[in-house]
Amino acid sequence: MSVSATAQRLVDALVSVYPECMREGLDRLDIDLDPELEAAETAATEQLRKGLEELLGQPFTQQRRGPLEVFQAAFSGPTAILVSRGMSPLDRDETTVNALPGDVFGLAPASSREISDEIFEAHMSWGIEKAKAMRGLVMGRVLGFEKTGEGDSVVVFIHGFPLDHRMWLPLSSVIGERHRCLIVDLSGRGRSELDAASSIGGHAADVLATMDQIGVDDFHLVGLSMGGYIALALAEVAPHRLRSLTLADTRSGADDEKGREARVAMIQRIADGEAAEVVGGMADNLLASSTPEAIRELVLTMGLATPVETLIADVTAIRDRPDRSSVLGDLSIPVMVVVGAEDAITPPDEAETMARSVGARYEVIGEAGHLAPLEKPTEIAEALLDFWSD
Ligand code: MLT
Repeated sequence: MSVSATAQRLVDALVSVYPECMREGLDRLDIDLDPELEAAETAATEQLRKGLEELLGQPFTQQRRGPLEVFQAAFSGPTAILVSRGMSPLDRDETTVNALPGDVFGLAPASSREISDEIFEAHMSWGIEKAKAMRGLVMGRVLGFEKTGEGDSVVVFIHGFPLDHRMWLPLSSVIGERHRCLIVDLSGRGRSELDAASSIGGHAADVLATMDQIGVDDFHLVGLSMGGYIALALAEVAPHRLRSLTLADTRSGADDEKGREARVAMIQRIADGEAAEVVGGMADNLLASSTPEAIRELVLTMGLATPVETLIADVTAIRDRPDRSSVLGDLSIPVMVVVGAEDAITPPDEAETMARSVGARYEVIGEAGHLAPLEKPTEIAEALLDFWSD
């Protein structure tokens, strides 16, 4: 079990003050520390250490109790002895009894501040870490990302399915001559921890949390396909953070019934051990006929490196995304729609309808399929640089 340094400090501190704390409690009750109570104290100290290590070894978001509650619960042994001797517990209301499990004689402190400043501080550090983790659960988690380039403005790139940040590297090396590029790995890839329950909106919260963490207030946002769904979800909640939005080979609408059924079938195949076949089939579908074999190989490499749990979480999130066409219609920032002329998944006529419906700039890239930014990075980089300089 790995208990973090913060947590270990708290375990050591609480375990070391346990006997002293109990003795003070017994003194207050005017009870001698006899052999039976002393043995109970030793057993409870061990229970306390184990309980704290178990609790604090769990990810913060899964900890259902606080360390002080474990500390107080450890007093249930000595408490049971006092009860067996016919002593009456302190008179407490229901709330207080629930708040101090296992300690009805007031042997345990009500707060870590009552024990010492050092423990109070260790307890506070634990609380801060836990609050951050809980915030991440609701507000997004910080993702791993690559950065490249220099410049005054920041461009954030969000990859598609079943890919990772590598799909943007050729394009970002051109853009990086003038802009700072941040290329995230969505949850469950690279250094980004998997959130199996993540939705498209949850991914958008992750991207925002990542920008908050590194102090990026506003940025140009570029999303490909699933990354475009996420970019739109981000635009829905934080349009003020965006300088512009570029949607590449994507759509604003939701899946129809047939589309959702196809997603369910794909999830089943992946769960049944056919992830490699699914990824292989996609690689064939994603690219234009003239796209070099090396790019197909890279697509396969990214897809096969994506863990099965991540593939399933992605397809589930894609399947369940809502229609965000009205989000696109409401935006007052510059929007560009780019699409590969041979995109078989989100074809140019669909992309053009979406672009025209909101007066967005529209670019079709020749000899490119669904992964136009990877297949034709120079052409899309030029289109982006021109769009931003307008
Ligand atoms: C993608 O490239 O991200 C996926 O094709 C998105 C989708 O299947 O809708």
